[in-house]
Order: sequence, then C-alpha cells, then structure tokens
Amino acid sequence: MSAVRPLPGHPHIARHDGLLKVEGVSLDALAREHGTPLFVYSKQWMLDALAAYQRGFAGRNALVCYAMKANSSLGVLRVFAEAGCGFDIVSGGELARVLAIGAEPAKIIFSGVGKTRAEMGQALAAGIGCFNVESEAELEVLNEVALAAGQRARISIRINPNVDPKTHPYISTGLKGNKFGVAHDRAVAAYQHAARLPGLEVVGIDCHIGSQITDAGPYLDAMEKILDLVEAIEATGIRLHHIDFGGGLGIDYNGDTPPAADALWKQLLARIDARGFGDRQLMIEPGRSMVGNAGVCVTEVLYTKPGEDKNFCIIDAAMNDLPRPAMYQAFQAIVPVSERAGAASTYDVVGPICESGDWIGRDRALAVQSGDLLAVLSAGAYCMSMASNYNTRGRAAEVLVSGGGAKLIRRRETMGDQLASERF
Ligand code: LLP
Repeated sequence: MSAVRPLPGHPHIARHDGLLKVEGVSLDALAREHGTPLFVYSKQWMLDALAAYQRGFAGRNALVCYAMKANSSLGVLRVFAEAGCGFDIVSGGELARVLAIGAEPAKIIFSGVGKTRAEMGQALAAGIGCFNVESEAELEVLNEVALAAGQRARISIRINPNVDPKTHPYISTGLKGNKFGVAHDRAVAAYQHAARLPGLEVVGIDCHIGSQITDAGPYLDAMEKILDLVEAIEATGIRLHHIDFGGGLGIDYNGDTPPAADALWKQLLARIDARGFGDRQLMIEPGRSMVGNAGVCVTEVLYTKPGEDKNFCIIDAAMNDLPRPAMYQAFQAIVPVSERAGAASTYDVVGPICESGDWIGRDRALAVQSGDLLAVLSAGAYCMSMASNYNTRGRAAEVLVSGGGAKLIRRRETMGDQLASERF
C-alpha cells in the first residue's frame, strides 16, 4: 500500500512513498523535465489562501487586491485575476504586467513612495481605481499630472499609524521612522488640502504597517488609529468611501503561528462595526499570505564539502534566486525531494555565488549526496520577484501545478536574454 504523508504546515505538498509531490505532481519528474533551480507553485494553495480572506469578508463589500510585488509572474497574476482579485501595484512595470494578463483597471490600486510623473500618467491612462498617495508633495504632482491629462485622479492617503508590527526592521513600514505614508497627526490637514485640489477626487484612506506579521495585536491597534482618523476627516465634510487596510499577514516559515485570515478579519470587522463604519468598502493588499507557501524551489546538490568547522552542502540555487536568507536572515525549510536512507549530517546549505552572504540555510540536518534534489519550502513569495542576474546567473524557470497537471509559466532565462539589451 502506498503511503502518502502531507508535509506539516504544507497541505498541498506530500511524500508519496518517500517522493515529494506538489498537488500529486512529482518534483523529481518536473526537475528532470525543466532543470533546476525550478520554482513550482500550487494553484490550489493560492485559491485556498484567497478563500480564507473571502470567508472573513462574507456578506461585505470588500476587494482583495493582491500585492503583486510578492510574485509578479504572469501565470500567478492570471490565477488571481480569474478568481476576481484586484491588484496592488507599485510601479509602471507592475501596471504593464497586470494589464498584460487582462486585469480590470478599476480594481487596480497604486501604492509606493516614489511614483514618477510618467508612472502616474500611465496609470491615469489605464483608468486605475485609486492612487494610494504617500506624501503631501505627491498630492501636488499627481494633481498637476491629472489636470494636464484632463482627468481627476481618485486618491486615498496612506497613513503612517506609528504602530510596531513586531517584524524584521527592513519590513516594518508603519513606524514614525519609516519612509512610508503621511504622519497620523498631519493626516486631517493633508486630506483637507487634497480635497481642494481640482485634479484629485478623495475616495478612501489606507495604511500598511509591515510584512510577515504573526500577531493580531498590531493590526487591531492600527485599525483603531485609522478609524479615529476616519471620524476626524469626515467631521471636516470629506467622505471616505473605502478603507484599505494593506497587507502584511505572515505565513508559517518555521513553526510561525499567524492568525488565520478569516479569524483576523472577524476581529477587525467587529471593531469596524462597533465604530459604525461597517458600511464602507473594505480593501486589503495581501501579498505573502496569498502565495508564500504555495511555492517551493527545487535545487540540485552540486557538492558536499566537509570542513573543519562546518560541512557545506553546495546547491545550484543561490541568493540571486532565493534572496531572503541573505537579506533578512530569513528561515526557509529545506527538505530532500527523495528520502535517502542513512545518517544525516549537519550542513550549511549554500549557493555557488562568490560571497559568504550566499547562504540558504544554516545548520540543517540532511542525508544528501551530490546529484540529490532538495526542495526549499515557502518560496512562493519574494523569491522570483526579487531574483537577479548576479554572477550572470539566468533566472530560474517556474511551473504552476493544478489538479495533477503542470504548466511551465516561465521558461529558464537564457544567456541570449541576458545579453540582448547590452552593447559594447
Ligand atoms: N501593501 C504595501 C503598500 C506594501 O508595501 C506591501 C509589502 C504589501 C501591501 C504586501 O505585504 P505582504 O502581505 O506581502 O506582507 N521582500 C520582503 C517583504 C517586503 C514587503 C514590502 N511591502 C520579504 O521578503 O520579506
């Protein structure tokens, strides 16, 4: 009888007689067909993640705008567009990507502290739903660009609520010392000013306090502060049609226990209702929690290298493919694709790139030999979208798995792709 054992915390990944499969598709077979490093995503995991938010918003006027910076591959965007999502974008490039897959412009919101005039013009021409403005200076520029285009830009102002999300400092965004948003005590004045600018139409308010948040507390604190402002702003006669509460909900990388999306929203909606704002449209901008644990990166062990202090397991994926350990000292689980009998040794799992920052996992117990395949888990978010060509490495291929079938959604980048834009 065949034994099927789901990986703890990864319901769409299971061992079938020792062999790792995503939604029933063998990672070994995919690696043989497409090579390594290879990103493999479960469509069902993404849809389940979205469904958790939708359960939380049942019966409400709500829009989930997938923060596409987490994974902006066209095949992934298409999954969310077909499921009815909107998109949170942060550049003209991201706008071009979502338009390419046929997303509805009215469901696109545009965040970011440094939008250029050209990007604003591009977004106005596309007819996006809302600009999330991040400074008083940006209000002026957007007003000018909209007037020059003969349009009115719908805006929301991003508020910095000064709440500590208790996450890595590089991904905290709602503290006074961060570059994001308009300070809470400047907000009413900024809204009054925006309401007087003829090229702008005030439609909402937004905030985003950070990423990989694993505790409901900071969200509840931020919500109270935002609702205080909604009251204060509306007291000046400006109506806020929507409240956009950003993204940031964490995922389980290493036994982390973030609240479930529906449970978190049950608590937040109770606060919103209690304050009398339950009739407003709600928007959110989740990224990581929509794709993070949908993905794995399959990589081949090139060499094992015993050392005096440490053993190294050198793999063919590197910090250009999986930048999170190098950038944030992040943990991603690493498991063998095919279980091998024999004693495990402790390894630092590292890539081929020429710097010591190129590590993927430290002190991992693995029974491996060169030629074995490993799967780096939790690789759906902020891996491919942050991948680079450092060391002139081509970016990996990506496969979307669904219902037992697999589709190549990005071919491996060739040397021709890399050289095509350069001259000497
Ligand atoms: N909305 C705004 C305005 C954001 O800045 C972000 C993420 C999101 C939504 C989505 O946040 P999420 O739900 O994914 O936490 N590269 C880092 C994460 C950077 C997050 C930046 N902003 C990492 O790998 O941890």
